[in-house]
Amino acid sequence: MDLVEYTLPPPPDQRVPDPAAFAGIAIEGVSKAFGPKQVLDGTDLLIHKGETLVVIGRSGEGKSVLLKHIVRLLELDEGRIWIEGEEITGLRTRRLMELRKKFGFLFQGAALFDSMTICQNVGLMLSEHSGLSEDQVRARACECLAMVGLENVEDKLPSALSGGMKKRAGLARAIVMEPEYILYDEPTTGLDPITSDAINDLIIKLQKELGVTSIVVTHDMPSAFKIADRMAMLSRGKIQFTGTVEEVRTTDHAMVRQFIEGNARGPLGAF
Ligand SMILES: Nc1ncnc2c1ncn2[C@@H]1O[C@H](COP(=O)(O)OP(=O)(O)OP(=O)(O)O)[C@@H](O)[C@H]1O
Ligand SMILES: [Mg+2]
Repeated sequence: MDLVEYTLPPPPDQRVPDPAAFAGIAIEGVSKAFGPKQVLDGTDLLIHKGETLVVIGRSGEGKSVLLKHIVRLLELDEGRIWIEGEEITGLRTRRLMELRKKFGFLFQGAALFDSMTICQNVGLMLSEHSGLSEDQVRARACECLAMVGLENVEDKLPSALSGGMKKRAGLARAIVMEPEYILYDEPTTGLDPITSDAINDLIIKLQKELGVTSIVVTHDMPSAFKIADRMAMLSRGKIQFTGTVEEVRTTDHAMVRQFIEGNARGPLGAF
C-alpha cells in the first residue's frame, strides 16, 4: 500500500472578472456526472485566443468529455462556458450551429461515416454549408488530405484505411472549413513517430499561419512539449495545474511530475 502523502497546491485561479469580455474560451465551474460517476466537478479553464493549449491527464479523467462540452455535444449539469464573450449554455439551435462552424473537431476515434468515401467524409461540411460545386469540394478535400499526408485515398471507404490513416482523415475533416478553433482529441495517438511529428508541424503551422486557437488533448508528451504554448492538467474533475512548457518541465507539482515522468507511484495512483 502506498502510504506516502502528497501535499498538493489548490487548483490555480482560472477565472476572469468578466468572462463576457474575454476574447477566447472561458469555462467556469463546469460539472458533469454520468449516473453516479462525477466526471467534471467544477472545472475552470481559460483558453486564450491564438494559443495552443494542451490538456493532459490520465485515462478516464474527462478530457474528451471536457472538449465535447465546448461545442455542446454534451450538456453540462452545472457551470457556464463563454466563447468570445457569448455564453453557449442557453443558445438556441440555429445560433449554436453558427458558432460550431468556427470549430474543427478531431474526435478521438476519428468518427468517420463508414458508408461514405474519405472524400465525402472530409468534404461533408463544405457540401452542406459552403455552396461550392462538387468538383470544388473534392479539390478542397484532396488539398486537406494532402496536408495530412494522405494521397490517393479519397475514393476509398474508411474500412480500407489503417487506424493512423483514419485519424489523419479525421484531421483533414477538422480543418476543411478553415476553423478559427480546432479541438484535437489525441491527434498523434497510434501514429508512427515520423507521422506524429508531421502532425505536430501541421498543428503549429495552422496556429502560426492562420491564427488558429487549439485545444489539444494528448498523452504524447514529446508532442505536447513541442506544440504547447501552455499545458493544463485535468484530474479529479478539476484543472489542477496550468503553466507554460517551461513551467511544466520545472514544476514540483507532484501530479504533473508523476504524469510527465510516467511514474506508477504518486498522487495519481497506478490504476
Ligand atoms: N456518453 C457517456 N456516457 C456515460 N459515461 C461517459 C460518457 N462519456 C464519457 N463517459 C465517462 O466519463 C469518464 C471520462 O471519459 P473521457 O472519455 O472524457 O475520458 P478521457 O480523459 O478522455 O480518457 P482517455 O484518455 O482514455 O481518452 C469515463 O469514466 C467515461 O466512462
Ligand atoms: Mg479521451
